[in-house]
Amino acid sequence: MADGLLLLGCGAFGRVHLRALATLGRGGEVVVHDPDPAMRAAAAAEFPGLRFAASVEEGLARCAAAIVATPVPTHAALAEAVLRAGRDLFLEKPAVETAAEAERLAALARERGRVAQVGLYFRFHPKARALRRFVLRGLFGPLHCLAARFSGLKRARGDSGALLNDAVHFADLLPWLAGLRVTGVFAQLADPLGRGREDLALIQLRFAGGAIGFIEAGCVLPGRWPDAVVPGAETRKEVILAGRDALAEIDFAAETFVLRRGRHRPAGNGAWLPEHGPREAVGVPAADPVRVVAAELSRFLACVALRRTPEADLHAGAVLPARLLDAARRSAQEGRMVSLEEAG
Ligand SMILES: NC(=O)c1ccc[n+]([C@@H]2O[C@H](COP(=O)([O-])OP(=O)(O)OC[C@H]3O[C@@H](n4cnc5c(N)ncnc54)[C@H](O)[C@@H]3O)[C@@H](O)[C@H]2O)c1
Repeated sequence: MADGLLLLGCGAFGRVHLRALATLGRGGEVVVHDPDPAMRAAAAAEFPGLRFAASVEEGLARCAAAIVATPVPTHAALAEAVLRAGRDLFLEKPAVETAAEAERLAALARERGRVAQVGLYFRFHPKARALRRFVLRGLFGPLHCLAARFSGLKRARGDSGALLNDAVHFADLLPWLAGLRVTGVFAQLADPLGRGREDLALIQLRFAGGAIGFIEAGCVLPGRWPDAVVPGAETRKEVILAGRDALAEIDFAAETFVLRRGRHRPAGNGAWLPEHGPREAVGVPAADPVRVVAAELSRFLACVALRRTPEADLHAGAVLPARLLDAARRSAQEGRMVSLEEAG
């Protein structure tokens, strides 16, 4: 009976998935397919007894669901093969390269009645979840600004540039945190290595209701902390959220979360003064990548068992961030603000 769990790709992040499945007690169900013998050997050395499939088709025949953790240009075809075989799908970020591809995949998942979830790591990070709870409780009042950095000094990936590899995380996370739709995008993209990819991206955002924001992404800027996911890389992974009644700053790499409650009030002479309380360190336990991925997979497996639609399904987790990134490309080409309505 096809009840295994297929892992497509056991490279760096595929092995994080294997560790996460082991912590969930689901390691025994896994079947791996990866065409690279060195990657298979590395996975087998860490997980003696790990089962392998010689092809995607063989793996799909033995499994009820598949995790795709392969290079970005392979995602669309592999995800389609998984859905067409009638299997449920966990697709690592960035789901696919364009909104048009994401829409096709979302339609296919709907048509086939499959559960599909995108691997959007930061939605499962304990600090991001704590910040979202504060927003939902109304702690910030109306939001003014949402800003994020996913940048540093690290390898330029062979399969993608800063938009798909880095900016995608916060193209998803900022609207999710704020509960606000992005309505406009102005972006500047640069190719500082001259390799034909945008390894530096500065993206300004306008949200429904008037809040503004930006995302900085790239691999050619100073980092501040060692990267928990990419060995040897120096990184900044930060989110700032500013509202009328409070400010918040999360540094995911340093594992700090600081809150300032308070607001500006008129001082009588036309000036407005900040009346903010002290910096409060919000106590949220540190997260390590294996635990965060285990939380993502645990939610996916629960949705599979209950036939529920995951929150980060192919519409929320693939189509919406891809529309924002498509608009960023178009904005950079045309040198103007692009509205998400015209981009979509
Ligand atoms: N959520 C996160 O924070 C996070 C972090 C790192 C990587 N990722 C994502 O995970 C995916 C993989 O990244 P990585 O860093 O592990 O890359 P990697 O290059 O280390 O590994 C990719 C693996 O996929 C294998 N592969 C290639 N084509 C295949 C196919 N057709 N079928 C099966 N396997 C195939 C390769 O042989 C390789 O072993 C990417 O989509 C990346 O964006 C997500």
